[in-house]
Amino acid sequence: MSANLSPIDKAKFAAAKRAVALIENGMRVGLGTGSTAAWMVRVLGERVRDEGLRITGVPTSTRTADLAREMGIKVVTLDEAKWLDLTIDGTDEFDRDLNLIKGGGGALLQEKIVATASDRMVVIADPGKEVAQLGAFPLPIEVIGFGWQATRALVEEMLVSLDVLGREVTLRMNGDQPYATDEGNRILDLHLGRIGNPRQLALVLNQVPGVVENGLFIDICDQVIIGHADGRVETRDIRTGSVERGRVELAETENLFADLGE
Ligand code: 5RP
Repeated sequence: MSANLSPIDKAKFAAAKRAVALIENGMRVGLGTGSTAAWMVRVLGERVRDEGLRITGVPTSTRTADLAREMGIKVVTLDEAKWLDLTIDGTDEFDRDLNLIKGGGGALLQEKIVATASDRMVVIADPGKEVAQLGAFPLPIEVIGFGWQATRALVEEMLVSLDVLGREVTLRMNGDQPYATDEGNRILDLHLGRIGNPRQLALVLNQVPGVVENGLFIDICDQVIIGHADGRVETRDIRTGSVERGRVELAETENLFADLGE
């Protein structure tokens, strides 16, 4: 039941519910990864089941693919879909220009490819994800395993000349093993504190041999939907500059929560 959900989950749910309302019959939809995106997949599954909504989903991770199938959503690869109408994903941080840090869940590579191959990217978030300046959340970069220590040293050297507050670089672990992405790569987390010039950083990081992709999403996100625990939602559109406010009825979600065994 909704009463058992934490305020943060209610906020994530509200944003997810609003975003899923944007999906129409026949759309090809990119499905993000993470706890907020998981709400979106569940709500979308509910619409597929209850309304007979016909859509094709392109997941950004094996985790999301598994959940989407479980929810009865038709899943195809990006190559099968070719191009997407809309991608809905969570974020670790967003700023006023809707630039993002993503990859806290380790799926940044597929997430960036899928979002970039979409007409529109909508980010769903709770209010805690909004920042004045990106960088408090450690910036993930995906690197290949071969020579990863040399790659890390080159990244550290490169950071010396850039406008950032901190320069610690750590290898993400999964227990006592390096975390492995869906592509079998590793993740380095860059503890930067503050990123003075995200656009420049995103460009130079990808020049380092061994770096596959970085978690800065610059000029990719079109809209952010911010959910609140009381059901209020705010939609900001970077292209039009518009801000729309609405409300999601949380009481209507009780079936979904019951289905999920909450
Ligand atoms: C996964 C991501 C997620 O979107 C990001 O980490 C946010 O996750 P959550 O919704 O659980 O806070 O980038 O790679």
